[in-house]
Parts: sequence; structure tokens; C-alpha cells
Amino acid sequence: MCGIIGILGNHEAAPILVEALKRLEYRGYDSSGIATVESEGSIDRRRAVGKLVELQDKLVFQPLKGKVGIGHTRWATHGEPNEENAHPHNSGAVSVVHNGIIENFLELRHELRCDGYKPETDTDTETIAMLCSKFIDEGHEPIDAARKTLLKLSGSFAIAMLFAGHENLMIAARSGSPLAVGYGKNEMYLGSDALALLPMTKKITYLEEGDLAILAREGVDIYDHLGNLVSRPIKYLNQSTNFYDKSGFNHFMEKEIYEQPVALETAIKSYICDKNVGAKINLLKELNFKEIPKIILIACGTAYYACYVAKYWIEKLAKIPVEIDIGSEFRYREPPIEKGTAAIFVSQSGETADTLAALRYCVGKAKIIISIVNVSTSSIARESDQVLEIHAGPEIGVASTKAFTCQLAVLFLMTLKAAQDRSEISEINIAKTVSDLKSLPSTLNQYLGSTNSIQDIAYKLSTASDVLFLGRGLMYPVALEGALKLKEISYIHSEGYAAGELKHGPIALIDDSVPVIILAPCDELFEKNISNMHEVIARKANVTLISDKEGLQSAGSIVKNTIEMPRTNKLLTPLVYALPIQLLAYFSAVSKGTDVDQPRNLAKSVTVE
Ligand code: F6R
Repeated sequence: MCGIIGILGNHEAAPILVEALKRLEYRGYDSSGIATVESEGSIDRRRAVGKLVELQDKLVFQPLKGKVGIGHTRWATHGEPNEENAHPHNSGAVSVVHNGIIENFLELRHELRCDGYKPETDTDTETIAMLCSKFIDEGHEPIDAARKTLLKLSGSFAIAMLFAGHENLMIAARSGSPLAVGYGKNEMYLGSDALALLPMTKKITYLEEGDLAILAREGVDIYDHLGNLVSRPIKYLNQSTNFYDKSGFNHFMEKEIYEQPVALETAIKSYICDKNVGAKINLLKELNFKEIPKIILIACGTAYYACYVAKYWIEKLAKIPVEIDIGSEFRYREPPIEKGTAAIFVSQSGETADTLAALRYCVGKAKIIISIVNVSTSSIARESDQVLEIHAGPEIGVASTKAFTCQLAVLFLMTLKAAQDRSEISEINIAKTVSDLKSLPSTLNQYLGSTNSIQDIAYKLSTASDVLFLGRGLMYPVALEGALKLKEISYIHSEGYAAGELKHGPIALIDDSVPVIILAPCDELFEKNISNMHEVIARKANVTLISDKEGLQSAGSIVKNTIEMPRTNKLLTPLVYALPIQLLAYFSAVSKGTDVDQPRNLAKSVTVE
């Protein structure tokens, strides 16, 4: 959470900082601010509460001069989102922006108070500025003062610092939160992610854990956690910048839902080799799943639900026991890791703090650490033995959509490879299943062409206060994902349940005010779902049944709202049924007028625990 940007340039920094912050707004958007060193050497700043446009408006009337600057878009952790608590935080000659949490800030604040330094905000970040300014007051040069400051901090952070009187200096540090350094022509940049720097440069170095970077226009010196001058690799990005364009859609989320056929096609093609007769799954070539007695799958939020689906797939097809957990629980419960276990971490951003911490727990214990990520340069990817990219393309909307289906596609292919390694599936069956998977993008494309009935149902849904999503088997995690999607962007309370659990409690909630969405493709569990449907209809629930033609026909006219889905290979239904639940959430949110792409209190990349 929180986006950081820094520029040591040759042009006025303020407009460039604001433009770059727009590309980081997905990390937090409750307030923002920038600071520059003006030509006479003093530091000035502008900060505003709310979205970045508020800061932009302020800068029209109160412009900020200077060619070196830092900027920040905030997701509040300490102190409410007001202007006082917005970054950059200044103290004496120092200005700081920070992403992360300084865990010992209260203790440090107390020490600083005793030394006569008075905090003016509720934030942990201000402590960094105060500490550094104290060291400068004691006679230390900025670099030395910054080093001494970092030694006193515990917690996780990415930091950028400016110093009054120093127009050619910026100091950055990484410990737990990502930072990338960008190289320009006699200019240098800093960003929480490389994509924010893309319009300025494609030449990037990622800082590593414990790194301290001293930037001047001429270049950067990077020191590792032991203080040794180190050389970190330079990478050249090959992405374009036009993914920040909504391409005629009203929201990024809508665009990303509709991008799924193309994203899936890319994801699938990148792991299938078509040259031979049959299908060759081209992933984890060096790993033989025959030698893997157990798999653990760890993730957070939507990515966790993708793992949940994969558990059903892997256990059924490859016959390997699978344990799944959410990162925040796994990291603290100290689970024993059985010898030979493959530990797999799924994350769109590759930066989720809890998933990363869980990964680090498994290093040295699991046989292999595999990550399934959308950002191949992310911390989770860099700390894994093997990386499977999902190739979804940048996902800007805070609610995950195309990343979910692409995670599912890669997890499914991995399952097939595991089943193949363990001789649990015949070559003919593999070829048939892969061919079904390959035809999915075109099926989904067709499906997305006619979503009117979903819009009508969503508009009705948007007036509800509570919604239940029910599913069995592979549809259970999809029901969980449906409830998450709806609550996060439409703010309607919703729960996902295994339909079989209904009688064990949730049925008490049912009356005519609670819409119930039932995900029930016509498979071996269909009849059981229909029984549950009758039970809730008998209690006056307003049911929407999502099923295929055959399923809807056999359910009959008792159900008023229906969403017809194309018929596919039963194993692949999660990739198909993900679409209507995304669309239901999207259209409900649009109907309620919420901020679809940047829902309240959320951020795209959760880099704090
Ligand atoms: C929900 C959503 C979140 C993320 C979760 C994990 O729509 O986007 O629940 O799935 O924060 O994020 P990643 O996948 O980046 O680790």
C-alpha cells in the first residue's frame, strides 16, 4: 500500500510527480502529496486529502517549484486520512515519503520527545523525518544521518528522502516494501513499482531487501544491508504504457472483465506446446510431481480462492494431498512442512506482505518454492525457485478479475502436468482437456457479447443489504469469490457458503429480503443444489440460478432469475462461472454509484500486514 515516487530531473518536477502518482494510485488513494527542493535550497510541499485530483487542483493555485522531488499516494495505517497525516512528512531539513509500517515508532517518538522534538502528526512516518533531522542537527551529513536513522527502524518500509540545500541528492531504502530505481539521461527516478516509471524510462534496477540507494542525477550508488557498495542488475522493461487507458470502457474493472478471453488465451498459449501430436504442457519441466507427497497453496483474497479451486483439481486429478491457507494465518501458525512438499504462492501483484512472509517461512523447509504471479519482477517472484507467470497484463481495477481467471488457467495446467507426471491421466484425456481449455477464450468471448440479463439482475441486487452465494464442489470457492467481489465494490454485505452448509446455520438468515445466488452447472452435484434451492425458495428467498441450458430447464419455472452459461468441460466451470459473478458485482456497484475502480478503504497491492 502507498505509492512512492522520486525524481531528480532537469525539468519542473511537480507535474511529472503528479502524473507518475496517477500510475501508483492503485496502491492507496485517501490522500497524496509532493515535496521539492526549491532552487534556493528550501523544501516546500503540497498535500491534499482524497483522490489525486485534489492535489492537482491545489497545485494550480499553489504551484510548487523545483527539479528534485518526492511524491506519495497514501493508504492510511497510522492516523486518519487528513492533510496533516498526508506524506511527505517534514522535520527540519528532511522530507520523507514512506510505504510500510514502522513498528517501533511509539518508542522512537518517546525518545525524540525527550530530546525536544515534537511530533505534529499521528503517523509513524513522521518519526523517520524527525530522527534523521535530529542526526543532522547533531552534525551528521545527510547520508550519514539517513544511515543512522535506518538502523533505528524496525518494521517494513520503502522510503525516499530529500534534504534542504541538496538539489542533487535523494536517499532511498528498502526493507520489506518494494522500490525500483530508474535511469534517465542525466536524470534519476524512484518508484514503488517500475510501471510508474515507464513513460520516463525502461531501464530499471530493483532494490533488494536491506538496500540503501544514494541517488544523484549522474547515477546511483547502492549499498547492501551490511553497508557494502553493491552492483544490482539493470533490467530493460518491454511493456508499453497504454494499459492505463480505459479503451472506451467506463471503468478499468469493466475493461479487465472484457479482456479475459484475450488474457486467458495468452496465459494458456504460453504453457502449451502444440508441435507434437497431443498436447505438451510446458511448465515446471525440472519438477517431477511423482516425487511430491504434498502441496501447500498459500495466497490472500481472490488469489486464495483460486488456490481453493486448485485444491479440488489437484486432489481429484493428480491425487496429491493439498493444504491451502491464507497468508496471514499460515505465517503465524508455524505449520510443520513435510519433507518433499511443494510450496506454491499465488499473487497477482507479487508483493502481498502476508503471502511473501509465508513464502519466507517455507524457504529451507519445502522442497521447492513456486510462485504464480502476474508481475514477474515482484518480490514473491524473485524469492521463488520457480515462477509461473499468469500473463494477465497489468490489472488496474482494485477488484481482481482477469488475474483470477488467469491464475485458474495456470493452476489448471499445473494440475494436468502433475497428473501426467504421476500417470493419473491418460495422454488422450490430457489432449482432450487441453483442447477444451484452449477453446474457452472463444466461448467466453461469445458469452461476454450478451450480458443484458445480468445487468437487470444486478440492478435488483444493488438494493439488497445482504446477499448469499451458494455453490458445491468447484463452485464453492467461486461462490466465495462472488461474495468477495460484491462486498468490495458495491459495499453490500455478502457471504459465500458451501450449499451443503446451509442447514448448519445460514438458512436462519433467509427471508424475502435476502437474494440468494446459486452457482450450479449441470453436473453430478446439480440435484443436490436444486434441493437447496427449493429449501431457500420455500423460505421466500429471491433466487438467481446460474447454470447451463440443461440445468435451467430441469430447474423449471420455480426460479425467477436465471443466468444461462455456456456448457463446458465440467472441470473448467470455475473459469466460466467467474464471469457472471464479476459482472453481477460490477453492475451492482455501477447501479449504486460507488467508486468501482478504487473502492473505499482498499488498495490494489497490500504491502503491509
Ligand atoms: C479482491 C482482491 C484482493 C487480492 C488480495 C491478494 O478483488 O483483489 O483480495 O486478491 O489482496 O492480492 P495479490 O493477488 O496481489 O497477492
